[in-house]
Amino acid sequence: MSAPEFSAKLLAKLAEAEMLVAFTGAGVSAESGVPTFRGDEGLWAKFRPEELANVNAFMKNPELVWRWYADRRKVMASIEPNPGHRALVELERIVPHVTIVTQNIDNLHRRAGSAKVFELHGNIERNYCMRCGVRYDDVDVVLEQGIPRCSRVDKDGKRCPGYVRPDVVWFGEILPEDEWYGAVRAMESADVVLSIGTSGIVYPAASLPQIARSHGAFLVEINPEPTPLTDQVDEFLMGQSGVFLPRLVEKVKQIRAHAPR
Ligand code: OAD
Repeated sequence: MSAPEFSAKLLAKLAEAEMLVAFTGAGVSAESGVPTFRGDEGLWAKFRPEELANVNAFMKNPELVWRWYADRRKVMASIEPNPGHRALVELERIVPHVTIVTQNIDNLHRRAGSAKVFELHGNIERNYCMRCGVRYDDVDVVLEQGIPRCSRVDKDGKRCPGYVRPDVVWFGEILPEDEWYGAVRAMESADVVLSIGTSGIVYPAASLPQIARSHGAFLVEINPEPTPLTDQVDEFLMGQSGVFLPRLVEKVKQIRAHAPR
């Protein structure tokens, strides 16, 4: 008889959970075909983040940075949410309060249908003017026409000279306040936190599971390999999120369906 895939403790915690948070990183999108950052084929293996994902790089060479994001947008447009994303949406139908706190900018949780998503590092589908902050979310950026510039004209008829940039958090930048504080509040009130597909080394995001733990949350990690978080979690499911999540959600659905009201 093989050992049960999920411990009785984990299933009990999920069966009674009122508030669940899924804390996700690039690994949850890996099975959709989105490259992670630090794997062998990871983005940072090919590009130096200092040359791309920071404001100095953008000011030095906006064309290069825009081209990199435009290429990533093309990848995102050609892929779909995977069974891991969809299992988290399914979880919303069986656990009263489910919050997604993601480090990903790929928009896949929203496209899968997750209702409550905090995007700590922004969203590659959105843009804004660096100078005046005007949003250009549904503007189709056509780099052949040059670097997108702000089109706002002030009351004196003067045009804003700002560059339009992707609405993603670059190295050294602060995280969007509403997203950060929303994520902290969710972690502080979570019964269960699933840390899924993150190497857990980029702060301040990586501090969130500890915040949850210090407030009594049951901490689960899903990852094909151990991370710095692994020896602090209550349960480590070693494997792919697109495989584990659908099976875990199915199990919890069965248990909650038979639970006495
Ligand atoms: P990483 O690339 O650092 O880590 C991805 C994690 O996903 C690794 O631990 C992999 O083992 C794991 N993984 C790979 N395939 C998986 C699968 N199928 N299922 C589950 N896990 C899998 O990506 P992040 O932790 O998301 O920041 O990186 C955090 C931040 O660093 C990113 O948001 C980005 C980057 O610099 C900014 O852009 C500000």
